[in-house]
Amino acid sequence: MKTRMLGDIEVSEVGMGCMAFSHGYGKIPPERYSIEAIRGAYEHGCTFFDTAEVYSPDLAGIGHNELIVGKALASVRDEVVIATKIMPRGGLGGNAYRTMREHLEGSLKRLQTDHVDLYYIHRSGGVRIEDAAEAMGRLIDEELICGWGLSQVDVDVIDRAQQVTPLAAIQNIYSMVERDSEEAIIPYCVEHDIGFVPFSPIASGLLSGKITTEAKFERRDDVRNWVPQLRRENIAGNQPIIDLLAQYAELKGATSAQISLAWMLHKWPNVVPIPGSKNKERILENLDASLVELTDDEFTSFEAALDECEVYGHRGLGGF
Ligand SMILES: NC(=O)c1ccc[n+]([C@@H]2O[C@H](COP(=O)([O-])OP(=O)(O)OC[C@H]3O[C@@H](n4cnc5c(N)ncnc54)[C@H](OP(=O)(O)O)[C@@H]3O)[C@@H](O)[C@H]2O)c1
Repeated sequence: MKTRMLGDIEVSEVGMGCMAFSHGYGKIPPERYSIEAIRGAYEHGCTFFDTAEVYSPDLAGIGHNELIVGKALASVRDEVVIATKIMPRGGLGGNAYRTMREHLEGSLKRLQTDHVDLYYIHRSGGVRIEDAAEAMGRLIDEELICGWGLSQVDVDVIDRAQQVTPLAAIQNIYSMVERDSEEAIIPYCVEHDIGFVPFSPIASGLLSGKITTEAKFERRDDVRNWVPQLRRENIAGNQPIIDLLAQYAELKGATSAQISLAWMLHKWPNVVPIPGSKNKERILENLDASLVELTDDEFTSFEAALDECEVYGHRGLGGF
């Protein structure tokens, strides 16, 4: 697969979000299935895998997902880039470095590795960002991490962090129905050689066109019960975007999910989406978005039509 740079870190231009093997989209698959799915993605050319210490069933406990990712990738560790995230729930305390190092050591053990390629702060509210940035700089100097990043942050926080220790990547929510990062954040990242890693790039499934107003989500641990674009009336309201995607999918001999990813790959040179799926076939389908090339004319007319569509439902950068 083609590659892109997140700072100095080279990754496949479509990565893989591993969260749903542990949390967020209802019932989790058997561990063996999840491991095979991750290996299948690697064998298909994916070299960028996203996890977090908090990804565990019901967000209770620590490390369920890191353990799976570690088992799946241990034998190909040097060929892949692993990103994980620290969630400093009670802040970083008086000694940011010590707190972060403790969390990181737990992740390293679960991931069966001696370094994390990309270490994000999952949510930085309540954290003095300059202290966190300095601590990340020390972890880089110690070669425990290769680069660092922030998630769900605005341009002011990014800039303050960047002054202390240059960032490799920002991971914010971004898709055709969550475009807050387009105005200032992604351009800032382009200008400063920072990668931008969209999470929920298919809008939790909406942009695949497979979710109808009749869809019922699982009762436990399923974010789709509260993702605003998936409220019944908002699925209906967003239909023009789904129709537009279907039209271009037909034109390009691709799927709607692939077009939603190809759009952002065309639009920005530093964007590396991490679609999530707990289905082996759909994981490969999403990776193959890398093969779908929109021409400049196709992109321009798509974008013009998209700009005409009102978006129903908005998560923004504030929520989880
Ligand atoms: N930094 C953060 O705070 C944060 C927050 C959320 C997520 N993340 C990361 O971002 C990754 C991706 O986010 P996400 O999983 O929320 O969003 P997503 O990729 O936009 O959507 C995932 C949902 O879409 C469905 N889907 C995916 N590909 C599909 C396809 N080709 N056709 C039909 N349906 C498809 C999946 O269903 P199936 O499983 O049935 O295929 C799943 O329900 C996560 O795995 C995680 O690593 C980070």
